[in-house]
Amino acid sequence: MLKGDPGKILSYGMVGGGPGSFIGEVHRRAIGLLGGARLEAGAFSRDRDKSLALGTELGLEPSRIYPDPLTMARTEAALPGGIDFAVIAAPNDVHYPAARAFLEAGIAVVCDKPLALSVEEGEDLAALARDRQLLFCTTYTYSGYPAVKEARRLVASGRLGTLRFVQVEYLQEWLSRPLETEAGADKVWRLDPARTGAASSLGDIGTHAEHLVSYVTGKAITRVAARIEALVPGRGLDDTASILAELEGGVSALIWTSQAVPGASNGLALRLVGSEASLAWRQEDPEVLVLSPFGQGEQRLRRGRDFGPGDLPFHRLPAGHPGGFYEAFAGLYGPFLRALAERKAGHGAGPGGPGDRAGSKPDFPDAEAGLAGLRFMAACGESSRHEAAWTKV
Ligand SMILES: NC(=O)c1ccc[n+]([C@@H]2O[C@H](COP(=O)([O-])OP(=O)(O)OC[C@H]3O[C@@H](n4cnc5c(N)ncnc54)[C@H](O)[C@@H]3O)[C@@H](O)[C@H]2O)c1
Repeated sequence: MLKGDPGKILSYGMVGGGPGSFIGEVHRRAIGLLGGARLEAGAFSRDRDKSLALGTELGLEPSRIYPDPLTMARTEAALPGGIDFAVIAAPNDVHYPAARAFLEAGIAVVCDKPLALSVEEGEDLAALARDRQLLFCTTYTYSGYPAVKEARRLVASGRLGTLRFVQVEYLQEWLSRPLETEAGADKVWRLDPARTGAASSLGDIGTHAEHLVSYVTGKAITRVAARIEALVPGRGLDDTASILAELEGGVSALIWTSQAVPGASNGLALRLVGSEASLAWRQEDPEVLVLSPFGQGEQRLRRGRDFGPGDLPFHRLPAGHPGGFYEAFAGLYGPFLRALAERKAGHGAGPGGPGDRAGSKPDFPDAEAGLAGLRFMAACGESSRHEAAWTKV
């Protein structure tokens, strides 16, 4: 798609994604799948030596390996040919100050979820992106899967009939043990409230569940009755959430997320119940949708055979040659990079800007989607503090 068109090659910088980290490398590979952007700057770690070592390994000019995101934003904005966008793949507490610095410097942002540590921070970022007319992507990875996009299309087309109920569960096992007290636990920032936010697990996986529900159904969550708890004794932060939710139009949803389920890997599963058919998707079998029309049993719909890549042309492999997590990330980056390249070439200002036509909003989760996740978290927390009372989102 973007590959091979030098007029559309963009450059980017990365915050986080240092040696041994998880998601930064996924971003780099996903962008590599598309070929439309080059990494040219970075502040990969709080440890300057590690950042320099990785930046050098990745072929960056030493002068563009920065001690911190704020210096990177300021310097790149002043540089002729500075970066077109910044990827923020660092712990949650870094998201807001870094994203704000890049937006203020006039640089588009791709930020990992949860968008920020509070609704107020999220509102500020969303307003800034809107006011400056800058593209902003919040990485709700699962909406990048072709099967999830197909599920959204099937719901919108009425294939399920009237939508009546939605169920999502997202289960992992890594917090089944008291990691916070075990020396050497490498993901422990997620259990430090100063770095992860007031809710750990809800921010980590609950926001993915919230976005999946609203993306596939096209309906926002309007209120919740939630119990947020820690299944592991003595844990200060949450590891589990049980949420009854109501969507626009009064549709009920049931959301269960937990990182304390032994044996679970990345068990994200969605079930939609309509008046004419049900539809199910599991992230661990991501190329398949199970459609069950009333009275007809299960039909397995497969990418490449029963539904196409749609707007994801890098999904070139025939059915049975599975795509996965990297491609899903590229599924976010494809529309984002295309919109950014078009802006750079002077064609339209993108969503909300002059030249934005009704219905032309690119298909990636924006700052407003990130903010919706923060509002959902806040409402769940409030509900849980009041014995799961129904609380508006
Ligand atoms: N979208 C997704 O599917 C997805 C998946 C996993 C993680 N995430 C999110 O991505 C973020 C990072 O998660 P992770 O699992 O990669 O964490 P990680 O601990 O594996 O990596 C974090 C990286 O950020 C670096 N870092 C820390 N503070 C920094 C700072 N001030 N400046 C620059 N670099 C800094 C660390 O050195 C490390 O390299 C989190 O917000 C997480 O919620 C998103």
